[in-house]
Amino acid sequence: MIILGIESSCDETAAAVVEDGRRVLSNVVSSQIDVHKKYGGVVPELAARHHVRNIVPVFKEAIEQSGIELSGIDRIAVTNRPGLVGSLLVGVNFARTAAYILKKPLFAVNHIEAHIYANFIQHPELTPPFLALVVSGGHTLLLMYRGPGDFDVLGTTVDDAVGEAYDKVAKLLGLGYPGGPEIDRIYKEMGENDIMFPRPKVRNNALNFSFSGLKTAVRVFFQKNSDVPKTYIAAAFQSAAIDSLIQKTKRAITATGAKKIVLAGGVSANSLLRRRVEELGVPYYYPSIELCTDNAAMVAAAAFFMPTEDDVFSVDAIPNLKIK
Ligand code: KG4
Ligand code: ZN
Repeated sequence: MIILGIESSCDETAAAVVEDGRRVLSNVVSSQIDVHKKYGGVVPELAARHHVRNIVPVFKEAIEQSGIELSGIDRIAVTNRPGLVGSLLVGVNFARTAAYILKKPLFAVNHIEAHIYANFIQHPELTPPFLALVVSGGHTLLLMYRGPGDFDVLGTTVDDAVGEAYDKVAKLLGLGYPGGPEIDRIYKEMGENDIMFPRPKVRNNALNFSFSGLKTAVRVFFQKNSDVPKTYIAAAFQSAAIDSLIQKTKRAITATGAKKIVLAGGVSANSLLRRRVEELGVPYYYPSIELCTDNAAMVAAAAFFMPTEDDVFSVDAIPNLKIK
C-alpha cells in the first residue's frame, strides 16, 4: 500500500511517500528555521504564509523522488491536529483537494501519534503496547500506547514543553534557534559540571512534568553569575531537563510494568536522553535523527495502521487538541 503523507502543523512543510507504513520512498522537508530564527521562535502568521508558498513544490518533489505515479497512490494522509491553525489549514486543504481530485481515501492524522509512528519506519519488529515518551517543542507526554486513537495519557507538562524550555533557554543565553540541537552539541563537548539546577517536583500527579521553574532558575543564575560561561549553564540545563524526563519515565515503567519504551518527537534526537534511556533496562526504540523532528513520512506511516478513512468534506484543522 502506497501512502502520500502531508505535514504542515508548525514550521516544516513536508510531503512523503511511504510503502506499507515502513518503507520510505521519499521524504521531503522544507524547514522554515531561517525565517523564524531572528524572532527566536515560530511566528504563526509567517509560518502559514510560507506553507502556502512551499506546499505544491514540496509535494511535487516528494512524488518525483518516489518514482510513483499519482494513480499509484492508495491513501492520502495529513496532520490535522494539534498545531498552529493557519499552518494546519494549508496542509489539510491541500490534502482534501488532492484526495477529492485523485479519488483517494483521506486519513486525518494526530501529529503526536505520527511522531510515535516514526519508530515503526525505523524498527520493523516494533508492535504496541508500549510506553511512549513524546517530547517536542509543543508536547511532553507519557502515554501507554496500544494503537491508533487507543492510548492512556499517564503524564503531561503542567507548563512549558521540554523543547520549548530548550528554545527559551537558548534564546536567553543567546545560543540561536532552535535551541535543542545547539545545547545538545555544547553538552556533548563539555559533559557534566557542578552547577546543579533544581529537578522540579509536581504536585498531584507524580508522572506530570514541569519546566518553567527550571527555566526561571537558569535565568536567575545567568543574571547573578556573569562570569560563568554560557556553555556551562547550557550543559547544566540539559542535565536537569533530561534527568527530569528520565525520572518520570522510570516511575511510569514501575507503575505500568511496561515492557518497551518508545521515544518520539524532536527532543528524542537528544544524545543524553538516548543514552539514559538505554540504561533503563527495558527494550527501547527511537527514530533516526531526521525522523525525530517534524516530517511527513511519520504521517504516512501512521495512516497505514489506521482502520478507517475520514470524510473528505468534513476533515478540519483542530489546533488545540484535548488529547484525552
Ligand atoms: O517535533 P518537533 O520538530 O516539532 C514539534 O512538534 O514541536 O520538535 C522541535 C523541538 C524544538 O524545541 C527543538 O529545540 C527540539 O525539538 N530539539 C532538540 C534536539 N533537536 C531538536 N532538543 C534537544 N536536543 C536535541 N538534540
Ligand atoms: Zn512535532
